[in-house]
Amino acid sequence: MLLVLKSTDEEHGREAARIVANAVRRNPALRLGLATGSTTLGMYNELGRLHKQNALDFSRVVTFNLDEYLGLPPEHAQSFHHFMHQNFFSNVNVDPKNIHIPDGAIVGNYDQYCCSYEQAIRDAGGIDLQVLGIGRNGHIGFNEPTSSLGSRTRLKVLSKETIDDNRKFFGPGEKIPECAITMGIGTILEAKRILLLASGSSKAAAIANAIEGPLTASVTASALQLHPDVTFIVDQEAGSQLKQKDYYHRVLEMTVALTPDRL
Ligand code: F6R
Repeated sequence: MLLVLKSTDEEHGREAARIVANAVRRNPALRLGLATGSTTLGMYNELGRLHKQNALDFSRVVTFNLDEYLGLPPEHAQSFHHFMHQNFFSNVNVDPKNIHIPDGAIVGNYDQYCCSYEQAIRDAGGIDLQVLGIGRNGHIGFNEPTSSLGSRTRLKVLSKETIDDNRKFFGPGEKIPECAITMGIGTILEAKRILLLASGSSKAAAIANAIEGPLTASVTASALQLHPDVTFIVDQEAGSQLKQKDYYHRVLEMTVALTPDRL
C-alpha cells in the first residue's frame, strides 16, 4: 500500500491525474475504472488540461464507471452519466463506444443487467486501473457498510447516511434515489491497480479505519487491504487520524528511490 499525502486540493488532483496520465501513456488502450463525486473533480480538470495542452490521448482508453443511481435517466442533472460527461468526457477524446456507465434507467431484470455489466468488464480484459473515492461511512462505489466483501455488480440499497449526504444536490420535493447499481467489492478487487482519493476532515475516520482498522464489511474500503497494489492520495485533513504517517512517508521515499514505476 502506498499513501501520498498532499496539502492542497490542487496538488491532490494533480497527483491523481499524474498517475492516471502515466498509466495511459504506458498503455494507450488502458481499461480505466472511474468514480464520480466532488473528490474526483480536481483530477478530471487536470486530465482535461493534459489532453488539451499535452496531447494526452484517450482515443483507445476503455472506461467503466463504478455506479449509477437507480431511477435517474442519463440526462438527469444529478445522474453520474451527466457528471461524467460534464466533468470529463466532454473535455477529452474517449471514444463514446468505449464508455461504460451502469444504466440507472433500467426497470426489472436487474440481475441480468448487472451480470451483463460484469461480462462487459471481462470481455474488455478486466480493469487495469480503478479510481475510487470513499464515503464518510467507508463505502467504495456504493458498497455500503455490511456489503459482502465478495459482492459483484448488483442493485444496492443506499444507507441513510449516503442519502442524507446527497440531499443537498436535489431540489426541494425532488425524490432522492434510494438505490443504485454498483460494482461489488469482489469486482473492484479484481482491478490490477487501485487509486483511492480522499479529501476533507469528514473522511478522516473512514481513511483511518480503511487503512489501519480491521478488515470488515462494516467499512467496505478496508477490503482494499487484500489488494496488492493500492495507492491512497489523501489531503492533510483526510489523513489526520492515521497513526503511522511517518512510516507511509518513508515507504513513499523508498518507492521513489527503488521502484519509481510503481508511482
Ligand atoms: C461515486 C462513488 C462514491 C464516492 C464517495 C465519495 O461514483 O463511487 O463511492 O466516491 O461517496 O464522494 P465525494 O467525493 O462526493 O465525497
